[in-house]
Amino acid sequence: MTTFARISERNRHFDRLVGRHDIKWLGQNTNHADPHPAVLEAMTDCLARGEYHLYAPPLGLEALRAAILEDLRLEPGRFEAIVTDGAIEGLYHACRTLLGPGDEMLVADPGWLWPRAFAREAGAEVVEVPIYDEACGYRLRPQDLEARVTERSRLIYLVDPNNPTGAIQTAPEIEEIARIARAAGALVIHDCTYRHFARGHSLLAPHYPEGTVTTYSFSKWLGLAGLRVGAVVAAPELAARLATAPPNNLGSSILAQRAAIAGLRTKEAWFPAVDAAQRANQQRIKAAAQAIEGYRLAVYPSHGNFVALDVSGAGVDPEALCQAYLDKDILIRQGGYHSQRFASRFVKISTTVPEAWVAAFCDLLPEATEQARATASVAALY
Ligand SMILES: Cc1ncc(COP(=O)(O)O)c(C=O)c1O
Repeated sequence: MTTFARISERNRHFDRLVGRHDIKWLGQNTNHADPHPAVLEAMTDCLARGEYHLYAPPLGLEALRAAILEDLRLEPGRFEAIVTDGAIEGLYHACRTLLGPGDEMLVADPGWLWPRAFAREAGAEVVEVPIYDEACGYRLRPQDLEARVTERSRLIYLVDPNNPTGAIQTAPEIEEIARIARAAGALVIHDCTYRHFARGHSLLAPHYPEGTVTTYSFSKWLGLAGLRVGAVVAAPELAARLATAPPNNLGSSILAQRAAIAGLRTKEAWFPAVDAAQRANQQRIKAAAQAIEGYRLAVYPSHGNFVALDVSGAGVDPEALCQAYLDKDILIRQGGYHSQRFASRFVKISTTVPEAWVAAFCDLLPEATEQARATASVAALY
């Protein structure tokens, strides 16, 4: 198969999934809670006014840029928010702008793989620090990071809360990572996509303002994944580097930005119940996992809207388990989406979904486990 044929096969796989209305989406950390009415109203107003005829301002609507900084409690002026087409576009742009041939980007493994591809396309080398281990709490130990720093280290990509483990870095670790980065002359991308689900999450930016790019997503806490809106936040000088030639220089979706502004305005009234429901879903999954020998959650409670279910003690292949669930219209994610090294260890299950979906997942766990044990080979899952 040519490379493009493989890429297009992956596309057809997801196209088939989005075309199905019977799928229970427990595989992509999307949020399926009903939105606050104000969010829907903001979008219908935007459509009724025909605002979509316009290009949004290049850095984003000012009201949104201000609201993002306020949400992060980062001081306006000291930091600037640049609205992007989802956090991923900010990550792409940051990797391509800040890295060049011969540079090294340090990442935790497992993690989120796309920025590694962006870094490699920029000619950089990706250096992995393994973290899938109880001994380090499934998060990045600063000393392990420091041990891999070289004079070529240019960027540290820190996913925190970590996707897929659900662990967060402690406040002292964040300070230490900032110190290590500054001493190495490396920048940090602090990917805070799941921050809203965490308890006691610390931003790195206040400790290393001149060298940190903080990413922001509306896909997870607000549930706008299909609308593609997010942001990168950095101090003015670094923000200027990112704002000079961004791929979304004609602005990000104005419809999405209106929804995001309304979401931030109603966050306090809406989000706590959504978060409480996903925490209760985590608990249900934990109970179902405990009933099967060899299963356990890597981190509980998870600081993201998902849990990593370790299946390595049960002799179950993650891909076979995902396939067994997909046969029953439930999408969960195989460890291989997050790591080559730890692909055989875990699957990931999203929790910002209706309770009934989680109940269906839990009820099926014994049967799907048996089916996975009996499966010899699985088609590509992506
Ligand atoms: C760690 C991490 N960063 C970024 C993203 C992408 O976020 P967005 O939907 O805002 O582009 C994801 C999506 O799953 C993610 O897991």
